[in-house]
Formats: sequence, C-alpha cells, structure tokens
Amino acid sequence: MLVESRAPADPLVLFRRWYREADRKGALQPDAIALATADARGVPSVRMVLFKGLEAGRFLFYSNYESRKGRDLAANNRAALVFYWSLTRHQVRVSGRVSRLSRADSTAYFHSRPRGAQLSALGSRQSRVVPSRTVLERAVAKLDGLYPEIVHRLHDRLLYVRQREDGWRIERLAP
Ligand SMILES: Cc1cc2nc3c(=O)[nH]c(=O)nc-3n(C[C@H](O)[C@H](O)[C@H](O)COP(=O)(O)O)c2cc1C
Repeated sequence: MLVESRAPADPLVLFRRWYREADRKGALQPDAIALATADARGVPSVRMVLFKGLEAGRFLFYSNYESRKGRDLAANNRAALVFYWSLTRHQVRVSGRVSRLSRADSTAYFHSRPRGAQLSALGSRQSRVVPSRTVLERAVAKLDGLYPEIVHRLHDRLLYVRQREDGWRIERLAP
C-alpha cells in the first residue's frame, strides 16, 4: 500500500527508491521505458527506449533526431514515458517537455557505445523506409571498411501498413 503520510515529498526520491529496488531484485531491463510522443496534428506514437539516468530532475534517453520520435519532438516537445517493473509491481509515469542535450553530451554518449552500435547508428537513417536488409547491411559494412559480416547489432523493423482494399503491406524501416 502507498499512503500519503509515508510517501516522500519529492517524487524523484520515490522513483529512485523503486528503480533501485527493481534493479536489486533482478528485474529484467529495469531501464526500459515506453516513450510516447505526438506529431504536430496530435497523432500519438509510442516505443521503448532506454532510460540513461536522471540529471537535474530530467529523465535522459538517447535517440536519433531524424527518427519518427525525433521529428515528433521537434514539432511538439511534450511527451510522456512510463516505467513498469512487474517484479516489484510498480509503475512510474512521467510527463513534460523534452529538450535536447548539448552536442558534447550526445557525442560523449556516442563514444561510450560499442562499435557495432555506433556503426548501426551511423549507417541507419532511423525510422525511414529502406528497400531491404541487405541495403542496411551494406551501408554499415561500408562504414566499417569491411565486407560483409559485422551486422550482428543491426535490428530488424517491419512496419505493417493497412491497405485500402484489404490485407497489409510490409515495409522495412531503418532501426
Ligand atoms: C528494450 C528496447 C530499448 C530500446 N532503446 C532505444 C533507445 O534507447 N533509443 C532508440 O532510439 N531506440 C531504442 N529502441 C528502439 C525503439 O523502440 C524504436 O524502434 C526506434 O527508436 C524507432 O522509433 P521511432 O520510429 O518511433 O522514432 C529500443 C527498443 C527496445 C525494444
């Protein structure tokens, strides 16, 4: 039970406590959050991203400015995110305005990532339709200066687009 009299005055204190508890008890990916954005017309979309820490009361995540979420946020900086730790049965919801980190912070994060992830980020125009996996693999392999097999980190994204008649068309999106 969560009672007012015992709840911390600062919600971030409660967040940190619950996050640590989920992590300590072995929650699978306690840092996975669902991030909801909306475009300029208010059309919502939601996806998982990784929570990368709290800084001055701001929840940090990293993504591509040209992705769908990046374009949504450029048009409408209001967003919401949710953590859910089934192990401890806690949910934390956050909403507010999203702002960009400094270029130096983004660069530092990029350099902290494994090489495969860096290549994939550079070779993939996130959320754009691509003709095939091979095209993505070649783009990443070219960056690596190798041919052809460094593509373990390349995720697959298929978008099902409902057809006017019936059935679905499958598009591949850059991860
Ligand atoms: C567990 C998990 C963690 C993810 N973390 C990130 C992340 O930190 N940043 C990111 O850009 N995409 C992340 N993704 C991929 C996104 O869910 C999404 O497919 C991608 O960012 C494109 O989203 P968009 O087209 O809505 O912009 C993650 C996916 C999963 C399943």
